[in-house]
Amino acid sequence: MSRGLLDGPSVDGLESEAPKLTAAFSARATVARAVPTVSDPPDAKASPVVARRQIVAVGGGKGGIGKSLSTSSLGICLARRGRRVVLVDADLGGANLHTALGPNPPKLSLGDFINRRVSSIEEVIMETGVPNLGLISGAHDYLTASNLKYFQKTRLLNRIRNINADYIFLDIGAGISFNIVDFFLLAEAGLLVVVPEPSSVENAYRFLKMSFYRHLWSSARGNGIRAVIEQAMDEKNQQGIRTPFDLLDAVERKDEAAGQYLKQRARTFRPRLIINQTRYPEDERLGPSMASVCRKHLGIDIDCLASVQYEDVVWQAQRRKKPFMLVFPDSKVGQSLEQAAVKLLSSSQR
Ligand SMILES: Nc1ncnc2c1ncn2[C@@H]1O[C@H](COP(=O)(O)OP(=O)(O)OP(=O)(O)O)[C@@H](O)[C@H]1O
Ligand SMILES: [Mg+2]
Repeated sequence: MSRGLLDGPSVDGLESEAPKLTAAFSARATVARAVPTVSDPPDAKASPVVARRQIVAVGGGKGGIGKSLSTSSLGICLARRGRRVVLVDADLGGANLHTALGPNPPKLSLGDFINRRVSSIEEVIMETGVPNLGLISGAHDYLTASNLKYFQKTRLLNRIRNINADYIFLDIGAGISFNIVDFFLLAEAGLLVVVPEPSSVENAYRFLKMSFYRHLWSSARGNGIRAVIEQAMDEKNQQGIRTPFDLLDAVERKDEAAGQYLKQRARTFRPRLIINQTRYPEDERLGPSMASVCRKHLGIDIDCLASVQYEDVVWQAQRRKKPFMLVFPDSKVGQSLEQAAVKLLSSSQR
């Protein structure tokens, strides 16, 4: 693994690598990438049905990187394999997942549930035209989106958690505010979409770090320990806590049992990556590089679920207002996303 592509001791270190990243991604060659074929046939009867509901949150800390493409495509793949899937547009500021699924905006949205114009979240699950696939469209009214109160968020997260489906996908917004990170942490399987550009890599790294701290904060028992974690969230804190390793040590020094417990909880944070819009052979190194950096500097193990090529068919499908995975399933992008869906299926059956 080449040091320098991503390596850095902290976000600051990562930022200082940005020029090298830019250089690495601008010296380009023509791509000829073989996409492995999908072995699992799209047959609902071919693989056993999942035992319990899985929540998959799709984030990345940045806009325009392929979160909605990934969410809609993975959802379609699993629905076509007979799983009951609900897609939730949890991008409260810029809801647009419905545009990846068809021409018409749904009549009801998350805003109707948040503002209690309907009594249950099930009432805002709209049909998509794809059997087994439902959609909860995002809140469009500005007031709802930007003023989500704590109790509204808690109610929303609880209801989403209890939707009756095999898979619930959350398409979450850009940024690293707690409202966004808390959607990501609702999932057993957090999926991070990253494109091979310095700004995306940096945002994803920050997003992961903040999500990890928030995960530890939610796991912590007692205000004293939470206060230490809150200090760590301030990157320039006076206690010198710069990394999750420093944080776990600081907690252990304060309370050994709490430190041990948090270390256990830390190991349950296992997000996955989709590297999207790859164009050049060196882009294929980004997944392993990010995994290495996250392991070394954050102590987080991440798996790369898929590497998805840049292909014009994606915007062609969007221009035609058709779900990408229905019109171009055999394209390279389609095959890579199908393969990612198969991996998701097999990991949830473990
Ligand atoms: N693999 C790809 N190949 C070509 N174009 C792509 C690919 N992935 C995404 N795009 C294009 O990038 C744009 C953003 O994709 P998408 O809407 O899925 O991203 P997003 O992260 O959900 O964005 P937002 O944060 O604005 O909701 C779209 O125009 C889409 O067509
Ligand atoms: Mg989107």
